[in-house]
Amino acid sequence: MGQHPANYFSEIDNTLAGQLAEKFGTPVFIMDKRGLLQRYYDLHAAVTQRYKHSMIAVSYKTNFLKGILALLHGVGAHAEVVSGVEYAVAKEIRLPHQRIVFNGPMKTRSELLMAINDNALINCDHEDEIDLIEQIAKDQRKVVPIGLRIYFREAQSSWSRFGFQVDSALSDTATEALIRRIRVSPNLHLAGLHAHIGTNIRDVQHFSRLGKYLSSFASLLKARFNIELDWIDVGGGLAGISPRKDENREVPYELPDAHEYADAIITPLLGYINSLTKPPLLIFEPGRTLFEASGGLLTRVIGRRSVTAGKSQALILDAGMNALSTCYLYDFPIRNFADNSDYVLTRLLGPTCNQADQLHTPIVMPSLNIDDLLLFYGVGSYCMAFSYSFIRFRPGVIIWHGDTFSEWIRHPETLSSNAMIGHVPESFARMNV
Ligand SMILES: Cc1ncc(COP(=O)(O)O)c(C=O)c1O
Repeated sequence: MGQHPANYFSEIDNTLAGQLAEKFGTPVFIMDKRGLLQRYYDLHAAVTQRYKHSMIAVSYKTNFLKGILALLHGVGAHAEVVSGVEYAVAKEIRLPHQRIVFNGPMKTRSELLMAINDNALINCDHEDEIDLIEQIAKDQRKVVPIGLRIYFREAQSSWSRFGFQVDSALSDTATEALIRRIRVSPNLHLAGLHAHIGTNIRDVQHFSRLGKYLSSFASLLKARFNIELDWIDVGGGLAGISPRKDENREVPYELPDAHEYADAIITPLLGYINSLTKPPLLIFEPGRTLFEASGGLLTRVIGRRSVTAGKSQALILDAGMNALSTCYLYDFPIRNFADNSDYVLTRLLGPTCNQADQLHTPIVMPSLNIDDLLLFYGVGSYCMAFSYSFIRFRPGVIIWHGDTFSEWIRHPETLSSNAMIGHVPESFARMNV
């Protein structure tokens, strides 16, 4: 079991928060190294205890920071990438024996060629990608193993934007035609299935159903086509701790139990797995559930507006929507360091000049003073990767090793390091613009 949600970052008290703010400035993202590693170990133990050929390939896009990803590779995590950019970073920082799982809707010819030569696991998104891999394989005189990203027609809440629609009874002709098309190719080998059903999923029954559908579909591939899979990739999707805004919930959730999740998804697959001559790899691609709880954002009150004297306050913070980029969807939990009990309804406003820059649904909290610090937490997934420069630059990220040791893993963006504002073209000078 993980820790109680109220305890995340509880070791960062007023004094330590002040020291961090002094050393690194605000706003600044904080990744809690020990919390992140603990969640990785919990997930890894839960899946490998149930099935030893399980592997965790961390979702790069969820927290695309070299320092964080290298830390996870150092303890055994593999890489799940969805673009050539992510692939290049994985090649640079992972350990040589660790495999890259290459997903995503756009893979260029040169990226695919590299992935084939690297023996990466490639999950195909659409027909033209299969054709392209076949051409490359032919040129290379190779048989290339491919996985198919699929979603099940009968799983109504599943994402359907990616991959191939199938049904678990393998009853429609389009799916059959797709399988036959791969089967007859001398250069392709159908080796894997990949599904990713959504994100922030708290009810593990959804994963149990996914396990059943995959098991049924894969068993039919074996019975009808004599295909034995080398890998089954069940994607990510497990929830974190932060409530969605539409849940109207003031307290964070506990992290979903890794063992319940592993049970839900692996148990229905075991019958199929045990029927094979060689045990397949079972791949997990956690993103949100791995990173979310261990990410914080330290911010400072830079101004106040007393909306109704003594009854409510509006605080202007130095971190805004460009930093906490998914605050339009989630009410991230907040730790404050005030020692007064003067609770008032509070609006938390960002510093950008944008009406939407409100970091939280109005919330009851102690009245604060200028320069007081606040720590948002539960922001380790997607926020850092999605943060953008709009009116203000992206904040930096530090890794907190526990106690008082922290260091930069991404420096704050500056005018010279930012590419968003572009340049004035030379022709303007010639034209006297
Ligand atoms: C293919 C794939 N795997 C893994 C993930 C990570 O998902 P999550 O952060 O919900 O765990 C995603 C996210 O969209 C994805 O598209």
